[in-house]
Amino acid sequence: MAGGKPTVTTKTGSGVRNLKQRVKTANKRSLSSQKWLERQLNDPYVARAKREGYRSRAAFKLLEIDEKYHILKPGQRIVDLGAAPGGWSQIAAKKVGEKGKVVGIDLLPIDPMAGVEFIQLDFLDESAPGKLIEMLGGPADVVMSDMAANTTGHKKTDHLRIIGLAEAAIYFAREILAPGGAFLAKVFQGGTENQLLNDLKRDFAVVRHVKPAASRADSAELYVLATGFRGAADRTP
Ligand SMILES: C[S@@+](CC[C@H](N)C(=O)[O-])C[C@H]1O[C@@H](n2cnc3c(N)ncnc32)[C@H](O)[C@@H]1O
Repeated sequence: MAGGKPTVTTKTGSGVRNLKQRVKTANKRSLSSQKWLERQLNDPYVARAKREGYRSRAAFKLLEIDEKYHILKPGQRIVDLGAAPGGWSQIAAKKVGEKGKVVGIDLLPIDPMAGVEFIQLDFLDESAPGKLIEMLGGPADVVMSDMAANTTGHKKTDHLRIIGLAEAAIYFAREILAPGGAFLAKVFQGGTENQLLNDLKRDFAVVRHVKPAASRADSAELYVLATGFRGAADRTP
């Protein structure tokens, strides 16, 4: 965050506390970072994550998706792509229990977590898929990706980056998923690109787009959920 420590005021009026928080504009703070901070302070999911001990508000997106589609089960092997700070991994570890296994990867360091093995590495690095496969120790039941590249503001570049990450995640999922497995990934805008969607439809029994309530309504974020992996015919043995 730019501009140092935030100054927060809680507004009060006519004897009733107005809990909506405003952030005083500091000289050096840009309007966008001020807006981000205000949104964080007023976001019920941020408060809930803090209360319930989740590392991120993103945890509720996975919880919601899982409540509806039941993708996480005891004893499963799960890969979490773009795992920092670890909200999704927390949910996954809880669901798979002691007999399951969760491995996560991120560009950023992640504080250790019981029941999860993390690696700090670019998923696009050519060594990443092999390392994850080795860490997992067997075929995966779920590959999930909440990866999001930093935006540049240049629409075309940003779009290509997002698609690049999703493509790499799908390619990896086809290599590591057990038959019947599930793939969940963040996509943006109008959903998954035609080519990606066709690939998924070929390899999975059901493919759907999901927008959990915890995903901000004003964000173009969307998830693609593919279940019932058929097993890729052309996969390397
Ligand atoms: C929205 S956050 C993930 C939040 C996470 N699901 C949670 O619940 O805490 C997206 C993450 O993707 C990571 N990321 C983006 N590109 C990546 C890449 N090429 N390799 C690994 N991680 C990447 C970012 O560093 C960031 O931590």
